[in-house]
Amino acid sequence: MAIFESIKLESFIDGRGTLSALEFYKLPFTPKRLYCISEVPNNESRGGHAHKELSQAFICLTGGFDLILDNGQIQETVTLQAGDDVTIIGPRVWRELHNFKDGSHILVLADHEFSEDDYIRDKDAFLKSIGSEN
Ligand code: TYD
Repeated sequence: MAIFESIKLESFIDGRGTLSALEFYKLPFTPKRLYCISEVPNNESRGGHAHKELSQAFICLTGGFDLILDNGQIQETVTLQAGDDVTIIGPRVWRELHNFKDGSHILVLADHEFSEDDYIRDKDAFLKSIGSEN
């Protein structure tokens, strides 16, 4: 299975600008939570964890950034920019967010309420947990 999935936003562009839409039935999960990432200073990165159960959809509204993914078998860098497809990341994928452009706004949909217990924040522990599944 691929380390991430992409889903198209439907865009309606006219003289008044662009409207982009996502029907939630197109997502592989039902969102329960939304959060936004913005004002990331130059040279700062975010993420640096995996989730045990959580699935998420990343939508870059403005700017762009690199999403660096590792599921213990595949390592992949996805560059997300405003207007790109929605990127779906499932559980058990280590993710780091780097190289934010100035003025980036990232919207994230998630299928569970926030729970610190769902995080794996130690990369070695993550790789060990993945290894024990294989
Ligand atoms: P974290 O997930 O570590 O941010 P990132 O992955 O972007 O580096 O979250 C940062 C802080 O925000 C942490 O204290 C947990 C809190 N938080 C919530 O309270 N609710 C949320 O929905 C999220 C995503 C984070």
